Amino acid sequence: MAARILDGKALAQKVRTQIKAEVAKLRAEAQIVPGLAVVLVGDDPASQVYVRNKENACKVAGMNGTLHRLPADVSQAKLLDTIDRLNADPTVHGILVQLPLPRQIDERVVLERVDPRKDVDGFHPENVGLLTIGSPRFVPCTPLGIGELLVEAGIETKGANAVVLGRSNIVGKPMALLLVRKGKGGDATVTICHTGTRDTASIARQADILIAAVGRPEQVQADWVKPGAVVIDVGIHKREDGSLCGDVHYPTVSQVASAITPVPGGVGPMTVAMLLKNTLLAAELTRPKSD
Ligand code: GUN
Repeated sequence: MAARILDGKALAQKVRTQIKAEVAKLRAEAQIVPGLAVVLVGDDPASQVYVRNKENACKVAGMNGTLHRLPADVSQAKLLDTIDRLNADPTVHGILVQLPLPRQIDERVVLERVDPRKDVDGFHPENVGLLTIGSPRFVPCTPLGIGELLVEAGIETKGANAVVLGRSNIVGKPMALLLVRKGKGGDATVTICHTGTRDTASIARQADILIAAVGRPEQVQADWVKPGAVVIDVGIHKREDGSLCGDVHYPTVSQVASAITPVPGGVGPMTVAMLLKNTLLAAELTRPKSD
């Protein structure tokens, strides 16, 4: 039987409508307009599309979205100056430095320079630490969106075997931390597979919830998936003919899984919605306590 489609586009729209109402309330009650500054270094075509989507989504939600473009050959010092300026700007509540960065720049130094209370990506070590100890402030947007999608779809994570394919700091590791934490959307038994894993297929086949964030087109085939498993596809790739696919071979896996996210229209729209959610949270953090 064909799997249920987990419609991230529809849920993201619902979340964005709620956020828009909360932004209006914050503006009316505290005269705060959430502001997101997106920093883009260079002209990577995919990054340009993502960044434009993020900026537009802010505007639609009634937030201030500003784009700060720097040339591909910018020095690290110049980029750090830009971040310092945004850290000091009270109209900027959230700062996002689009990744990847050019080779001359040390990503760690840059991400650590962002004020942790403006770090809407959740990449600063302080926010990584808070998630690790189970008291999250800003959770990276992609795993946060996947968590909301699972909860909204009524998928039980408690006691489930969850397998995360990929150990990146952006998706794999924070996803595993969310699934393993106590409470709603957590309490799963989590395994992370990576390039050093001996037999990824056999481990993936034990998953009740399989999260594919491997970065390779259609790597996850039907024989990696237990019948009835829930499959979340984080990948997005452009084929030579211009069509899009994920990390999962959708035509065959959707015949085995009980539920699956499509590409496009699954995880991607949720990531943008969660960025807005984190930006709203960042603005709320600046609200005086007495309000
Ligand atoms: N590049 C790919 N995904 C992301 C993300 O979630 N945040 C940032 N800043 N860059 C990315």
